[in-house]
Amino acid sequence: MCGIIGYVGRNAATPVLLGGLRRLEYRGYDSAGLTIQQAGGLRTLRAVGKVARLADKVRAEWVEAEVAAGHAGIAHTRWATHGAPTEANAHPHSDATGRIRLVHNGIIENYRHIRAKLEAKGHVFASETDTEALVRLIGEYHKGDLRQAVIAALRRVEGAYGIAVLSAAEPGVIVVARKGSPLVIGVGEGECLVASDPAALVAHTRRVIYLDDGDVARVTADSVDITDLDHAPIDREIAELTFEAGAVEKGGHAHFMLKEIHEQPETVGNALRGRLDLVNGTAVLSGMGATARELLDFQRVVMVGCGTSLHAGMVGEFALEELAAIHAEVQPAAEFRYRNPLVDGRDLVVAISQSGETADTLAAVREAKDKGAVVMGLVNVVGSAIARETGRGVYLHAGPEISVASTKAFTGQVAVLLLMALKFGRGRRLSGERGQALAAEIARLPKLIEAVLAQDAAIAAVAARMAGHDHAFFLGRGPMHPVALEGALKLKEISYVHAEGYHAAELKHGPIALLTPGMPVVVLANRSPVLDKVLGNAEECRARGARVIAVVTDGGPPVAVADDVIRIPDCDPLVATIPAAVALQLLAYHVARLRDCPIDQPRNLAKSGTVE
Ligand code: M6R
Repeated sequence: MCGIIGYVGRNAATPVLLGGLRRLEYRGYDSAGLTIQQAGGLRTLRAVGKVARLADKVRAEWVEAEVAAGHAGIAHTRWATHGAPTEANAHPHSDATGRIRLVHNGIIENYRHIRAKLEAKGHVFASETDTEALVRLIGEYHKGDLRQAVIAALRRVEGAYGIAVLSAAEPGVIVVARKGSPLVIGVGEGECLVASDPAALVAHTRRVIYLDDGDVARVTADSVDITDLDHAPIDREIAELTFEAGAVEKGGHAHFMLKEIHEQPETVGNALRGRLDLVNGTAVLSGMGATARELLDFQRVVMVGCGTSLHAGMVGEFALEELAAIHAEVQPAAEFRYRNPLVDGRDLVVAISQSGETADTLAAVREAKDKGAVVMGLVNVVGSAIARETGRGVYLHAGPEISVASTKAFTGQVAVLLLMALKFGRGRRLSGERGQALAAEIARLPKLIEAVLAQDAAIAAVAARMAGHDHAFFLGRGPMHPVALEGALKLKEISYVHAEGYHAAELKHGPIALLTPGMPVVVLANRSPVLDKVLGNAEECRARGARVIAVVTDGGPPVAVADDVIRIPDCDPLVATIPAAVALQLLAYHVARLRDCPIDQPRNLAKSGTVE
């Protein structure tokens, strides 16, 4: 996933573009570049590495008057898919004449074919990218009207794209198009912006137009003209962004990840707001659009997602089976889409995604719809592809998540899945009394999370004793097994510690051979029906010299084998998954901080996978 920003208007484009790139850097940070339209033509600068390197280059190579003169431009921050992160592969790319430049998110699948044809005509490619094939093709079709040339080229490409294009021949015009990769237009006073993410726009305007697949827009300082690929005009409404500019700032925290961890009492509160019916012990999820009758009729709930969202689904699986006695399962979205899944109209398929743009999850949605299943989204980003394609579901209301490592989205997803399980349960077999008790427990979540956050210093001290180790295990059983997987994922992605999440009982079936004296083993040993078993598993690790870090219920029995203890407040074992996850997020954060890792932008990662 990469980031796109474009600007046309009364202000100098360069500072706006660099500011937008900084906001988008979490989407990819291998290399960056920008093109500015000036009286003499197009000027491009590109740099390997972070946006700061590009900004240094602009300062060193462009005089101030040049910067001030460019009022239209496009820019890109890259997460490499085709070709290494080099300056030659960085965007913007150019057509053969040098008079058209393009930035692109996504993948042009038939680029080899296009490239071969263009090379046969004499084109000499300057990069290894799929993108260059597209811009050169646009150049081939260009007869003076940029949008027409873009449409002609797009009709010949296969794959996914969000693009922004400039031509030296059309000053003050940016042409943008999308298919499978998000693009949004910001409509300001005497200026317009385009971006792959509204986070880059909110400092300039709150009025936005979300493009749909197949849209092509010609954007000037004071007009947005949208057509489809057949040149038929399209009307899209202007929407208002609901989050503040501050939501995409660090707000005094050292990292976005830490800020987002600390936001969780509020974000989980937002996910629950207006959705808990404490009197009837149920949940109100109008976005699901399911009647009580429909809930009874579903034979199965199948959840699909990737990474952290997959782990949230695994917690949901336990909650749905325990509370609603419905067959529930979770599948990696990338697997679901290719395995010819056995779903039909009696199944509910729930697509779980923070971004709402993950390619595999979106493809799973399409596959499930083709098979006739009822499909819902459990999504954070409003108006995202999955939200739109599912048409119904539940938003997380967690606000923009900038850190590549997902935190507040996970707890929001689990909170909503608990609500879903409660609603299903009350529609099926859960008693009013149990429903009320559980609803009351779920309502405590913001306070439960606050209690974990209050132990930040104690968790940092545990992290200090862990930070020197390059390997770690995370163990859990029942709904804490996915929390263990998530804790391990957090640690490995931001601290580069090799961490394995395991079912506590599975350890002795092989991986226990890896235990060495002093190796940290984080054991989720909260109050639960299987606590004794978990403690037994912890003993097995301790007996082999491992260092046991136990996540325990405050006020619960002492855990004799624990070298370190992290306390979570006493609560229902399903609900406890959320405070436990928050504790592990803090643990991973502090280990990464002590190891001096680039926490918000870990190597090789980007915020979400819009390519397979
Ligand atoms: O936006 P999504 O929830 O669909 O993204 C899914 C995964 O790519 C994401 O959760 C990833 O695993 C995170 N880096 C985990 O922190």
